[in-house]
Amino acid sequence: MEKKLNIGVLVSGSGSNLQSIIDHIEKGLLDAEIKIVISNNPDAFALERAKKRHLKTMIIDHRGFESREAFDRTTASVLKENSVELVAMAGFMRLLSPVFLDAFPMRIMNIHPALLPSFPGLEAQKRALEYGVKFAGCTVHFADKDADSGPIIIQSVVPVFDDDTEETLAARILREEHKIYPQAIQYYAEGRIEIHGRKAHIKNVSRIEEKALHNPPIIF
Ligand code: GAR
Repeated sequence: MEKKLNIGVLVSGSGSNLQSIIDHIEKGLLDAEIKIVISNNPDAFALERAKKRHLKTMIIDHRGFESREAFDRTTASVLKENSVELVAMAGFMRLLSPVFLDAFPMRIMNIHPALLPSFPGLEAQKRALEYGVKFAGCTVHFADKDADSGPIIIQSVVPVFDDDTEETLAARILREEHKIYPQAIQYYAEGRIEIHGRKAHIKNVSRIEEKALHNPPIIF
């Protein structure tokens, strides 16, 4: 059997993306092993999800550190001590300093509930709705020094409907997050991601159908 990719998952909240990663591993769809789940928030429900699956967890509360760098140094060393090869930020609501980024160069992924580079930062779904976009979505990308920036690995597009609320749109996007994050990690595990500057290229994938979407529909 081939060696599995050792991953560390960073969380701050509900952990539904963590759950999806766990489920894909358990179904044999994702060739990875979660070595540790780290939360900066002691109350994150994600910790309960991890414990239920008997995963190693750790709380590293950022409020106990004098600087972002000190928090990042500790978190990065814990990940290294646990033989983590790829870091997956799954609803981890912290900016990363160069201390962290340099410890795992192009080995940190993040998921964001918007079609980046639109709507980086907090409340992305709410801002997309308020802006009046007709399509929204989610993005998995490598982390870099800016929030929700870095080479894009995979995106998923969903329609926005006139009667959407922040909740209905967020739920539609989240269902897609749960598909694209495990897939992005699996591409990495298979050694299929090549990075050229801003661009992440996935080797040997079939081309998707060349089909435009319109919302609302074109009726003539
Ligand atoms: C997800 O929607 C994720 O995309 C978002 O936080 C949520 C976490 O949900 N992340 C960001 O906004 C990062 N800028 P989860 O804890 O249920 O996975």
